[in-house]
Amino acid sequence: MNFCKHPLKKSWIGGLLSVLILFFANKEILAQRKTIEPGAIWPDQNGNHIQAHGGGIIKIKNTYYWYGEQRRQGLDPNLRYVSCYSSKDLVNWKFLSDVVQMSDPENLGPGWVLERPKVYFNATSKKYVMYFHLDNKDYSYARVGIAVSDRADGNFKFVKSFRPLGRPSRDIGQFIDDDGSAYLIFEDRELGFHIVKLSSDFMSVEKEMSLINAPLEGGAVVHYKGLYYAIGSALTGWNPNPNKYATSRSLEGPWTEFKNIAPPETNTYQSQSTMMIKVTGTKSTTIIFMADQWRPSAQWDSRYLWMPLEIGDGKLSLPKPRPWSLDVKGGVFKILQNRD
Ligand code: DGJ
Repeated sequence: MNFCKHPLKKSWIGGLLSVLILFFANKEILAQRKTIEPGAIWPDQNGNHIQAHGGGIIKIKNTYYWYGEQRRQGLDPNLRYVSCYSSKDLVNWKFLSDVVQMSDPENLGPGWVLERPKVYFNATSKKYVMYFHLDNKDYSYARVGIAVSDRADGNFKFVKSFRPLGRPSRDIGQFIDDDGSAYLIFEDRELGFHIVKLSSDFMSVEKEMSLINAPLEGGAVVHYKGLYYAIGSALTGWNPNPNKYATSRSLEGPWTEFKNIAPPETNTYQSQSTMMIKVTGTKSTTIIFMADQWRPSAQWDSRYLWMPLEIGDGKLSLPKPRPWSLDVKGGVFKILQNRD
């Protein structure tokens, strides 16, 4: 019997073909993402919104790894999760795995907190060292936790927690200088904003570089054309506020006064800083402001605001969010729909 002549089989094959065509066409569209769209749903390779909130990015060879708070729906409420995504172009992201699926490591009780994970790769030990904010429900434990893995894509195993410099530590940020030295930024409500150098194995704090006497969290630092730029947000919980920046010739200060990075009435376009990414290419260097637009009652739907910064000569400003494209090899960006 001629297989395709049978009417039922014919429609079955036709249906299957259409599903396959749609499936691959969809994959193609996802694979061909060309722009970063601040505030929009940002699909991974499977079409799922990226879950990497309060995150940080490291580059190993030609691959970027994005770690962040995994907050998709349906997670086990007793566990805390950190996700890991990879990308070659900072636009198209592949979900690799939840590299942390941790149960309460120190009897912190219901509602315990694991936030703002940041991963450092130690070239000597070849270990991936993750720092995160570890806390209890009322944020009074105020410590950093460390988990370690042999691979970028996990699994990370909890090692210890501590208070850097013996001080309470809540929001943390990560900075790796051009010479590879690694720094942790942490917020200490009483004293301010600390920048500390990590020890050579990254497992502890070596020394304090700066204590900036300002109530700032969501800390981020970048080193650009001989100046350090530090960004932080005010302390308003999940609500956005005007993020500010200061500059210094040295990580040890002195730092300038803090100024708004965007018109204050926009509350940083409803976002909060988490990191600045320096993309050094063959033609230019782009500094990306990486921020969260939190949705506290639907955290899985929190969005990302990434925009290239206008930066140089001690000035920094966040342009109005618009779709933009990035050439990571050239280090060049292009803002689309270039109008106010
Ligand atoms: C602001 C911090 O930046 C967030 O990471 C989170 O800790 C919220 N506060 C909790 O209110």
